Amino acid sequence: MKFKVDRRVLLAKLGGAAAVASLPSESLADALEQELMSEANYGPQCAGLDIIDMGDGVRRGAGQLFSKKNVAKIPVLPARPKLVDFFRLRFSNGTVAHCLKSAAHALADGQPERNIMAALVHDISLNLVKADHAWWGADLIAPYVDERIAWAVRHHQALRFFPDNEVGYEFPELYHCIFGRDYEPEPYIVAAYDSARRHRWYMDARMITVNDTYGFVDGPPPEIDDFLDIIGRHWRDPEDGLGADGSSSAHMWRTLINPNRPL
Ligand SMILES: [Fe+2]
Ligand SMILES: [Fe+2]
Repeated sequence: MKFKVDRRVLLAKLGGAAAVASLPSESLADALEQELMSEANYGPQCAGLDIIDMGDGVRRGAGQLFSKKNVAKIPVLPARPKLVDFFRLRFSNGTVAHCLKSAAHALADGQPERNIMAALVHDISLNLVKADHAWWGADLIAPYVDERIAWAVRHHQALRFFPDNEVGYEFPELYHCIFGRDYEPEPYIVAAYDSARRHRWYMDARMITVNDTYGFVDGPPPEIDDFLDIIGRHWRDPEDGLGADGSSSAHMWRTLINPNRPL
């Protein structure tokens, strides 16, 4: 696996060393994930791509759909859109490539199908909102997946900071290399980790973080079509389409369908 992040470029994007020093560690980690995601999608020749600073006064926690730098075109979706339509026509290339590569690793590794499904959707909420994306992501998918998958997605964000030797997950060395100081995750992240660590579904969330690291490998991602069977078995598309079923997250899907609504 090859990671390449230009420390100087990343620091400049975040506002310089002084600004970085004042940022919560969680924000720094999210910024790094975004940088790695842009690398995975566009290649090292575009390492300077401005994907973290949304520009025009847009805060960094806003989802990728809200910056024309990330998603220039918003094609019309089918009348009753399904999950795969969002992969094909709405989600940013970076999130699609990252999630497909993560899921491909879970598949090649022989993990249970629920892990593959979780990997496939673990970061799709980044299109909607980046701050606390795992919590948003779990709420987004909860009506359409098994409770266990939504739980795993909810907790993967907190687990990124905590190693687990049992599955070979280490604290990402790059966090040290790039920011040069120890991370102190915010209390709510520590609390979420502590609670997840004792939960019977802990390993489901942990495997998202393991598969996540394979979401940044070089090379083209697989096709969403490779996962249609697994999606069919683990995702319940509503008859009227996502956004039109009155579920607890229908409003989020409507925002993804049309992020241009003024109110
Ligand atoms: Fe994530
Ligand atoms: Fe991820």
